[in-house]
Amino acid sequence: MSYSKETALIWQAMGIGALWIERDAEDPLSPSAVLADSPKTAVATVEAPKAEPAATEPKVETPVALQPAAPAATPVWGEMPKAPAPAQTKSVTPQAPVAPAIRPVAARPAPVKRDATLEVHIHDEKPIAAGVVELDHEILAKIPEASWSELREVVRGCTMCKSLAQSRLSTVFGTAERGASIVIVGEAPGRDEDLKGEPFVGKSGELLENILHECGWKRGEDVAIINVLKCRPQNNRNPHENEMKCCRAFLDRQLSLLGPKIVILLGRFATMSLLDTQASIGSLRGKEHAIEINGRQVPTFVTYHPSYLLRSPSEKLSAWRDFTLARSAWIK
Ligand code: URA
Repeated sequence: MSYSKETALIWQAMGIGALWIERDAEDPLSPSAVLADSPKTAVATVEAPKAEPAATEPKVETPVALQPAAPAATPVWGEMPKAPAPAQTKSVTPQAPVAPAIRPVAARPAPVKRDATLEVHIHDEKPIAAGVVELDHEILAKIPEASWSELREVVRGCTMCKSLAQSRLSTVFGTAERGASIVIVGEAPGRDEDLKGEPFVGKSGELLENILHECGWKRGEDVAIINVLKCRPQNNRNPHENEMKCCRAFLDRQLSLLGPKIVILLGRFATMSLLDTQASIGSLRGKEHAIEINGRQVPTFVTYHPSYLLRSPSEKLSAWRDFTLARSAWIK
């Protein structure tokens, strides 16, 4: 079997498998092949490795570097237009972003010394248990009318989730620019994101960046990246249900302000939160779902979280198929 340069590039970017090149065939990534390569054309078909059961899977198409990147624009987020109503999914009413089961606590924790240069965050307070949440109605009241930059400030000052507020170094609001038509929703910041205050800047961010690049999408410009939680759970523990419910009001407002054409959910927690399901990613991926944003049904796709793909590289091809499917809906 011989490989096109596009196939080789995608497999290389995604770190998929070994590329076997026949003795007498030219390596598609060799300098001479690259030089001889004609300008990029539309879509090439990737042949899945033999081991992959592909019977019911959608045909994989590789939109490789289809869209020559526009010169990087200076970030011009500014103010988002006011959206008519907060985003909501089928499962949650707008008045109830937070479930009543959330337990109030009396005292706010003392401020924690912040030093972004320290890898380990040292404080002498007793760690607060995950899931202890104190609703702040002053904060909640600001959300439905907040612009993008106002919302960022509200998030910055939020201390509703006591454990998260105690241990975080920064809040990670998200990356977006006006006009981004794709929203990717991750889980929560990890250590690198907590240090930098930006989503997906660690190892899983590198993989996500590669995937976006192969889709011809630019982070920020075409794609907004936001998380279910805006603060890092200590030691990268799973988000607590109360924390997800509490932070959901921010997520809904972000979706409403962004008004995307498609949404891609990375992993279990983004999926649980926005599709309101406990079903596995394996059973939900590979098809189109919908969430309601500003009264509109927005095509939504589920795929594996990049950090899972780093642990289970054999699933990268499935993830690539999911992105390809999402891209087809985006092009429509
Ligand atoms: N994982 C996530 O889900 N989000 C990030 O921002 C980083 C890692």
